[in-house]
Amino acid sequence: MYNFLPVDPDKTEYIPVAKASELPKGERLFVEIDEETIVVFCIAGKFFAIADVCTHDDGPLGDGDLEDFEIICPRHGARFDVRTGKALALPAVIDIPSYPVRVVDGMIEVGLPVKQ
Ligand code: FES
Repeated sequence: MYNFLPVDPDKTEYIPVAKASELPKGERLFVEIDEETIVVFCIAGKFFAIADVCTHDDGPLGDGDLEDFEIICPRHGARFDVRTGKALALPAVIDIPSYPVRVVDGMIEVGLPVKQ
């Protein structure tokens, strides 16, 4: 299972983060990978991952309320699509990082760019 991002497998390294059974619908999980915090969501039975950072003022984003596939920054109300990272509402105008997610043998795996 992949989210909507196009992925070049040669440039993506998948990191297992949790059992899929441990992240029920409507829940989120914060994980640290390479000193970055990534938030993994289970929405309508699918998994999505974004960086825990708002591009408006670098504030933490992951605790924001969700409306469908939109997360609302708790600081000033910017909105982002968790499927793509696209900025949808001011004051943010720059997209946030979003990452491909797959499930292999019951494990959620987040795809990160391979470091060169
Ligand atoms: S830090 Fe997110 S909207 Fe300002």
